[in-house]
Amino acid sequence: MAVLRLGVLSSHGGSNLQAIIDACKEGRLHARCCVVISNNSGSMALQRAKNEGVPNYHLSGKTHLSSQQLDQAIRDTLEKHRVNLVVLAGYMKLLGPLTVSHYQGRILNIHPGLLPRFGGKGMHGDKVHKAVLASGDGVTGVTIHLADEAYDHGPIIAQTQVPVFKDDSVESLRGRVLKREHEFYVETLQRIAEGDIELSGL
Ligand code: GRF
Repeated sequence: MAVLRLGVLSSHGGSNLQAIIDACKEGRLHARCCVVISNNSGSMALQRAKNEGVPNYHLSGKTHLSSQQLDQAIRDTLEKHRVNLVVLAGYMKLLGPLTVSHYQGRILNIHPGLLPRFGGKGMHGDKVHKAVLASGDGVTGVTIHLADEAYDHGPIIAQTQVPVFKDDSVESLRGRVLKREHEFYVETLQRIAEGDIELSGL
């Protein structure tokens, strides 16, 4: 199989992006992070890409006035860097139809909970952890799924559980889940690199 050439999209902190870059550098993940795109010009994600010498772009409603132009710019930027797998890592926007159809079946997203529970529009970040705590569930987890033009939609390709403890706060739960996200995104990408998980588009 071709070497994985990743294009990572991230809106804020970019800690999953960093975990992926580190794993590539350390040889734990046989892939290359070729480009980083963020809708947020001041994001840590772009700063991390700069620090690591990874080509990076701010593409948003501020740089492109119509959603179609933005969609085209995202697709063209991924193509320019010969990305063959798109990795959404804390990306708060939906991708447009040009990008989704071009990378059909080759766009991954990570969600800090066990989809299909606690997902969908508006269910992100701490809202997920709050809902899990309110539900009284003893387990939460991390889901990696193929992404399409809807929030938290598309076939699940990998899931892992994370315990919820009685005295958990949103902060403690967030920290435990995020730590697992970092490991699990890398593990799952490596399984794709090894052909253990087959993506039809690759
Ligand atoms: C993660 O919890 C991810 O699952 C969610 O947003 C958070 C992003 O964290 N979609 P980071 O930007 O990778 O630090």
